[in-house]
Amino acid sequence: MKKIYTLICVLAFTLVACEKEQKPTNELETKVSDLLSKMTLDEKIGQLNLRGTSSRVKGKLPDSLKQAVRDGKIGAFLNVTNTEYVDELQRIAVEESPNKIPLIFARDVIHGYKTIFPIPLGMAASWDTQVAKNSSRVAAVEASSFGIRWTFAPMLDIARDSRWGRIAESPGEDPFLASTLTKAYVEGFQGDSLNDPTSMIACAKHFIGYGAAIGGRDYNTAIISDAQLHNIYLPPFKSAVQAGSQTFMTSFNEMNGIPASGDRRMLTEVLREDFGFDGFVVSDWDSVKEMIPHGYAEDLKHAAELSLNAGLNMEMTSKAFEKHTKELLKEGRITEDQINSLVADILRVKLRMGLFEKPYRVDKSDNLYADAHLQMAKEAAIKSSVLLKNDNNVLPLTAGKKIAVIGPLADKPREQLGTWTFDGDGKYTKTPINAFQNNNVNYNFVEGLSYSRDKSTKDFSKAIAAAKQSDVIVFIGGEEAILSGEAHSRANINLPGAQEELIKELAKTGKPIVLVIMAGRPITVTNILDDVDAILMTWHPGTMGGPAIHDMIFGIAEPSGRLPVTWPKVAGQLPLFYNHKNTGRPVIPEEFVQMDSIPIGAWQSSLGNTSHYLDIGYLPQYPFGYGLSYTTFAYSNQTLSSNTISENNDITVKVTVKNTGAREGNEIVQLYVQDVVGRITRPVRELKGYQKVTIKPNEEKELTFTLSLEDLKYYDNNEEYGVEKGDFKVWIGQNAAAGLTTKFRYE
Ligand code: BGC
Repeated sequence: MKKIYTLICVLAFTLVACEKEQKPTNELETKVSDLLSKMTLDEKIGQLNLRGTSSRVKGKLPDSLKQAVRDGKIGAFLNVTNTEYVDELQRIAVEESPNKIPLIFARDVIHGYKTIFPIPLGMAASWDTQVAKNSSRVAAVEASSFGIRWTFAPMLDIARDSRWGRIAESPGEDPFLASTLTKAYVEGFQGDSLNDPTSMIACAKHFIGYGAAIGGRDYNTAIISDAQLHNIYLPPFKSAVQAGSQTFMTSFNEMNGIPASGDRRMLTEVLREDFGFDGFVVSDWDSVKEMIPHGYAEDLKHAAELSLNAGLNMEMTSKAFEKHTKELLKEGRITEDQINSLVADILRVKLRMGLFEKPYRVDKSDNLYADAHLQMAKEAAIKSSVLLKNDNNVLPLTAGKKIAVIGPLADKPREQLGTWTFDGDGKYTKTPINAFQNNNVNYNFVEGLSYSRDKSTKDFSKAIAAAKQSDVIVFIGGEEAILSGEAHSRANINLPGAQEELIKELAKTGKPIVLVIMAGRPITVTNILDDVDAILMTWHPGTMGGPAIHDMIFGIAEPSGRLPVTWPKVAGQLPLFYNHKNTGRPVIPEEFVQMDSIPIGAWQSSLGNTSHYLDIGYLPQYPFGYGLSYTTFAYSNQTLSSNTISENNDITVKVTVKNTGAREGNEIVQLYVQDVVGRITRPVRELKGYQKVTIKPNEEKELTFTLSLEDLKYYDNNEEYGVEKGDFKVWIGQNAAAGLTTKFRYE
């Protein structure tokens, strides 16, 4: 079954790829082999070499580097941002190097280049493919102006643990949502044609299992069964191949004992043979060399041998390929055919990018921070913000209210941009305070804490005094940008510093508190939940976060995001995700044993115990898919077109959604399925579809979803793909813990 499926994928992919390139593949392949036939071994090895410089190095362009390019010893550069250097290096490559092969310049353009959009986890909360596509298109237009034609994005690591710092860059915990967004990102970066000077080739990363780091500790081991690999972690990467992503990046971690940069099964069998990928794979920074401390390679030469044999094309920064490929060839540990094939993959992409004809950047710097870009960034910030709590409809605030704005992130231009924003200029950032000022809001700003980790209570009294003179408190806090991202995992994920303490003091004034959180991950709010009236999660919202927050707070716009990750009550619950399995002892609310109800001196007993924690229970703070709006919705009339599904008989599921509140609102209607009995156990729910709708007060909309048998198929631990006959449940609702249920059967 798997083979047939694979064949279909390869055929489908080939059609899509050919259509996209509008170029007969054989013409391209002829060019690749002509070029290869003229190249010396040194030049071939050069193409496999990505020279990286740190994100901060400026200095003078060293002569040795220019000479290396002249000799054809470098295939691509990372982090050259000085346009003069970009132009000079490219000129040397295409005018002076032996076969005039152009360079590619790469950079981590993750959620914007100059105009910064919300962090990817925030973008995922928008569930909006158009917004995602806009963000990557804007990033490509701005970055390509600097000669950057290769971005190290999108990051597609499914993440189920909010302690992990890089959850900020991830698409969240769900493979279906992640896969739909992947397609949009790739299409936005790569544009309508790869050879358009404003297109950047995408890089699906990190392949694979990086988000499954044990304990959420960055770089840590991943242990993933084949079923989980295919059902949870691989789908977004498959979607990237189908969308035409030209490159992939291996991850730092090992999975089941094999470091990703030496994993032949993943790089060759899965990525190329199963998925039909024909672009090139780059290693992550030094990850080839790091197979030595992993305990997988004896030394650098062995590392090169493992990676080349695995099918890794280009090495980032460490120099194993550069130093050892010739020796390995001589010793017959790799073959020239293998090297040719690895180089061909790189040349193919360079040809598709049109770099041989148009190697130089096209300066479109008048586009940087263009109005249209800023408007799209603002729209994205609004659509990714999630309203978590809104007691007594404290939000939106009515105009004219006297507001005490308090908190360490209300006016921090750089912090609200989030992780991986080397190029975003704080000067252009609009903070909430800028926006309140520009809109003549009646506010009094007292920071209270000068940065998110600040533990000093010295300014508390000023903040409390301001609060007392106001009608409402808007507390803007969270995490500084540096507290999430690579190598920035946290064991506790509550508001850092003395923020909780300050909120508790402010609550004593009796004034309503609106908590606006800017952070790179879900923040546990258990300690202060009862002290605040509303919580608005804006993630790190980017350049236009301020105006977006202003508009949401005053109801000019509605926060319309829904959680792309399960939000825990305490970090001790992690990892936590909605699409978990049942146990033999599923939680039954009435039988849930709480710590305080256990009699003193109780005899050991597991009766009544289920899979939960005695002290915190089993529920998250907020489920996956959750988010409030400024109106309310009612779901009714969930109907199925048939009670049975089969190979040739899709079923449609309909539901009516009514806006039962007083203002127009946006809803994300979510469809979940459970396969009740499987050949291996199945998750309690899986997202299989969603639709975004805008509904007027009192208006009803009937929505139709289609389910095919294909949607129900899954992989088991033998990599068999399929589904067996039996019962299925389907829910349509507002989040992963809600919804109307109906049943159908596969017969
Ligand atoms: C990160 C990658 C990034 C690379 C280049 C690494 O540390 O893991 O995501 O693309 O650096 O900057």
